[in-house]
Amino acid sequence: MSSSWSPPSWRELTAAQQPDWPDSAALDRALKELSTYPPLVFAGEARALTGSLAEVAAGQAFLVQAGDCAESFDTFSADTIRDKLRVILQMAVVLTYSSGVPVVKVGRIAGQFAKPRSSPFERVGDLDLPSFRGHMVNDSAPTADARVADPQRLVTAYHQAASTLNLLRAFTKGGFADLGRVHAWNREFVASSAQGRRYEAIADGIERALRFMAACGIDLQSEHQLHEVDFYTSHEALILGYEEALTRRDSLTGDWYDCSAHMLWIGDRTRQLDGAHVGFLSGVRNPLGCKLGPTATPDEVVALCEALNPERVPGRLTLISRMGASAVEEKLPPLLRAVRESGHPVVWACDPMHGNTFTSAGGRKTRHFDDVIAEIAGFFAAHRAEGTWPGGVHIELTGDEVTECLGGAEEILDAHLDHRYETMCDPRLNARQSIDLAFRVAELLRG
Ligand code: PEP
Ligand code: CO
Repeated sequence: MSSSWSPPSWRELTAAQQPDWPDSAALDRALKELSTYPPLVFAGEARALTGSLAEVAAGQAFLVQAGDCAESFDTFSADTIRDKLRVILQMAVVLTYSSGVPVVKVGRIAGQFAKPRSSPFERVGDLDLPSFRGHMVNDSAPTADARVADPQRLVTAYHQAASTLNLLRAFTKGGFADLGRVHAWNREFVASSAQGRRYEAIADGIERALRFMAACGIDLQSEHQLHEVDFYTSHEALILGYEEALTRRDSLTGDWYDCSAHMLWIGDRTRQLDGAHVGFLSGVRNPLGCKLGPTATPDEVVALCEALNPERVPGRLTLISRMGASAVEEKLPPLLRAVRESGHPVVWACDPMHGNTFTSAGGRKTRHFDDVIAEIAGFFAAHRAEGTWPGGVHIELTGDEVTECLGGAEEILDAHLDHRYETMCDPRLNARQSIDLAFRVAELLRG
């Protein structure tokens, strides 16, 4: 952090992807209100996550970061939150067993309400409408009214994030995350399809491990680690006014934390070195992520490490590559090499979603499960070749049985996409595809 940093100092820099708020007085009022609200997360929790991510950076843990592309104000319910958490916990159990190391669990949840867009306008029929930028900003309905940026949405986003976090805290500490229970859900998945049965050996192994612990005299009922999990929140820190309004000075250390989530990331479209997003996040102490698409150069990536983590704190910075299945083996190794040579301690995670989006024959924005797996396989291969640790995966998923991505355990075809295509933004893996993915990654980790 430079000595001239303060929460509003990003305002002197160029901020990409900010909405055009038509009523600036209303925006000021909303931000002022937010700045008086309680923090959503505590600095100590963000520090604990940095500590866990430091283990990932050291090759002694694995990261699963997953959740919605964009959370919705409309489909907000206890069930959707529970089902999303359930899938992430199921994935984590499979990966813990297969990797033999702790899995750090971070949701794209409780704040993932803002979207960067490739164009500020969208053509709908013969109308040019402002693009949908996430429910924190406007609504996705294709009308001029719905697309007006409304500052009151910033306040609604805060409240929805607060209730989501409240439920997550209850679920993760109140018995829902019980290992035996999560394993039983995985058993159900394995038993219920021919594709699932392929993973019987892994599921059997987990069961044997549980029996082994019990046989050794470990009382599985009384070990709180088997009934509770640490679960962290994250989102793309896109709308900087919102992030600034939730930034607080930690009373213990005097450091600044963005208390809107435990971890914040910078998108591929807002990672300009001299831009406001890098400038703002350089000054808060939360663990950070930065997406890296195929245009990222080795020099740029090392410069981002310097800007975001000049003190080289392990766990502070996670680099999330999203190259696309066809580009990962060419584009990723030079970045791995440059960062390794610079000596920066980073977590490397693979986002196999955003580089593999295409429009299906039926006109739906989709991704194929096989491309997603292929990018992860390329990511693992690149790390193996460079001697670096493939630290984790970053996935867009939902706990609902939507039909947005092709392929996977149930072989979703183009003709099925219309059945339940519900995303407001990018296509997400459904629950079964997500668990299928975890088992595939497990195979890659063991291979
Ligand atoms: C996202 O994570 O939803 C996203 C927009 O990613 P990226 O910045 O990598 O395009
Ligand atoms: Co997305």
